[in-house]
Amino acid sequence: MVDLTESSQWKELEEHCSSVRGLSLRELINDSKRVESLSFERDDLFFDFSKQHITDETLHLLNDLASHAGLKEKITGLFEGEIVNQSEKRPALHTALRMSPTAQVNVNGQDVIPLIQAAHEMASDFALRIRTKQWLGATGQPISSVVNIGIGGSHLGPYMAFKALRPYCENSIDCHFISNLDPSDLETNLSYLNPETTLFIINSKSFSTSETLTNAESAMEWIEKALGTDPQILRKHFVAVTANSEKAESYGFPSDNIFPIWDWVGGRFSISSATSLAVMIAIGPDNFKTLLDGCRKMDQHFETAILTENIPVLMGLISIWNRNFLGYHNQAVIPYANDLASFPAYLEQLEMESSGKNVDSEGNLINYETGPAILGGVGTNAQHAIFQFLHQGTSVIPVDFIAFANPSPTRGGIENDVVYRQHEALVANCFAQSQALAIGKPEIKGPSSSVGNRPSSTILADRLDPFALGQLIALYEHKVFIIGALLRINSFDQWGVELGKSLVDNVASDLAGVPSSAAHDSSTRSLVTQYHMRKDVP
Ligand code: F6P
Repeated sequence: MVDLTESSQWKELEEHCSSVRGLSLRELINDSKRVESLSFERDDLFFDFSKQHITDETLHLLNDLASHAGLKEKITGLFEGEIVNQSEKRPALHTALRMSPTAQVNVNGQDVIPLIQAAHEMASDFALRIRTKQWLGATGQPISSVVNIGIGGSHLGPYMAFKALRPYCENSIDCHFISNLDPSDLETNLSYLNPETTLFIINSKSFSTSETLTNAESAMEWIEKALGTDPQILRKHFVAVTANSEKAESYGFPSDNIFPIWDWVGGRFSISSATSLAVMIAIGPDNFKTLLDGCRKMDQHFETAILTENIPVLMGLISIWNRNFLGYHNQAVIPYANDLASFPAYLEQLEMESSGKNVDSEGNLINYETGPAILGGVGTNAQHAIFQFLHQGTSVIPVDFIAFANPSPTRGGIENDVVYRQHEALVANCFAQSQALAIGKPEIKGPSSSVGNRPSSTILADRLDPFALGQLIALYEHKVFIIGALLRINSFDQWGVELGKSLVDNVASDLAGVPSSAAHDSSTRSLVTQYHMRKDVP
């Protein structure tokens, strides 16, 4: 296979790049034809790519690159369960999680759709039992607090969705999320809770992640201390979500308390599975089903639309254009919805754990960049934090703006006219920021006139509801797939993180005063010594 950067399609893009560098967004976005050709309406979503440093020719050349990479076939392969995670020899079937019950997708000769349906029913049934107060704690009290203990994909997705769908949550059940090994995370959450009415969801695909298992063990001690050590007690207060049921059983979870996920769904792609059990309990199975419908709508578009009109493909290609040709290292994501405050952090893992690779899918070192670093914040708060850098910093950081035409439903705490008035001001800020980034201040002459010409895309949805959230989730999942497929990397493994995990044990043993056999570097040795000198003796 020809080296990616040696292909004629890549070379043509490199050549084209010099002509685009000279273009001014200030002038380009006055062309209504351009705006029309770079805007796309998909059901209740509107996408405006006209403020990117692209022309019709750029998209044409990127499309050539995509066709040369066999992107259409790769998308089909993803949906059909081909091995796309080459290092772990697995498919990545997050799309199967929201397929219709009549679909068929085989993994090792077995149709997995019935497994997915059964797991979904098990989770829905459990969520209903909690919500209707049929599932009781060990002392006969109904559950009023649900605590998700998990980290990475077993935390960021469900946490983001729970926060995003706050107006759809059942009032009588509060949800908490504990992820950090720092005991303050455990403590700040548990200090509010009553053990008699608390249910813990131990959320770990591998059931081997030390942060999660440590927090789970501490939570078990907390329940045992309050309610007793009989295993029957723990069964009323702990359930597990995992692909490793044997390991969960070894921790005392009966099979009825284990909600399955599978190794053919990546952790950071697992938000539409039982990984979101806490969300399902909070918003109810019907709303969760609507979220899956939203994912499926985007899946269908991704699977069937031609490349030139395929939104996740376009977003992936623009990302590659910005990173690999224009040299923009970062990507900001700014949702103008307070309830989406955790969306950038969720995307950080989704995009950076997926695209942070320096070898191709066959393990060969590569000579090009892979994916931007993601950063972000919620509008309008981010305007008073990171936007100065976005407007005038010496690095150009493309922005994805996400806005909603209508406010989220309220619970009557403030008058409707206030809600609509403030919401409109919020949207005005969003549009004004993308405008300011693009045009700068043309009337100012001198060095500051260079401000402007900063690229962005805007996604406008009707409202932040379960369906729209599902569409956004699938949109970004597929964008990440496109980046990986085109850059020939494996978006579904994470060996770098595994290495970090494996070094912890030796350091932990040194900190505990049981010197490990590991010969640490001088810097680490000095940190261990300093720690011992400063540590209070408990
Ligand atoms: O951060 C590494 C990682 O393996 C993520 O990919 C994963 O989402 C997270 O740890 C948690 O893993 P698990 O769900 O197996 O506990």
